[in-house]
Amino acid sequence: MADLARDGDVELAMVAAGDGEILGHILYSDLGVVVDGRPVRAVALAPVSVRPDRQGQGIGAGLIRASLDLLRERGGEAVVVLGHAAYYPRFGFSAALAAKLQGPFAGDAFMALELVPGALAGHVGSVHYARAFGL
Ligand SMILES: CC(C)(COP(=O)(O)OP(=O)(O)OC[C@H]1O[C@@H](n2cnc3c(N)ncnc32)[C@H](O)[C@@H]1OP(=O)(O)O)[C@@H](O)C(=O)NCCC(=O)NCCS
Repeated sequence: MADLARDGDVELAMVAAGDGEILGHILYSDLGVVVDGRPVRAVALAPVSVRPDRQGQGIGAGLIRASLDLLRERGGEAVVVLGHAAYYPRFGFSAALAAKLQGPFAGDAFMALELVPGALAGHVGSVHYARAFGL
């Protein structure tokens, strides 16, 4: 995360707090996405984490939903995540939508979400992660 910040590649970071303590955190970094030659304003979701003793109480879902709303308000078009295939679809992420995006990842855990309907419409695309990921 420090390397992402050093490079100026953090698009959004949020924390969930309660009882004066940080309970969870989410971060989005800039992501280069092109679909059928068209640049898409996209970000990568990673990481999201909730304090182990507070997991399973909706804190992660709250962070994800609030941050997606903020990204949409800021004009973001799409989000990509590499994560638990059983968790992210409830927020609208889809592996089928990400399948056209060529990059370092593929498969059920590689998912995408359109913040603007049709943002990822097209035939072929590519993703380029921020330099700090070393991919
Ligand atoms: C994943 C994580 C951020 C979810 O936050 P949370 O506040 O615990 O989640 P919520 O309370 O909003 O939602 C709970 C749901 O998440 C699911 N979940 C949690 N960890 C999961 C995992 N590893 N795989 C699949 N589902 C998972 C639970 O099964 C539960 O599902 P249910 O609603 O169908 O019962 C949190 O568990 C965490 O920090 N895990 C460790 C770090 C991590 O794996 N980060 C994600 C990297 S992609």
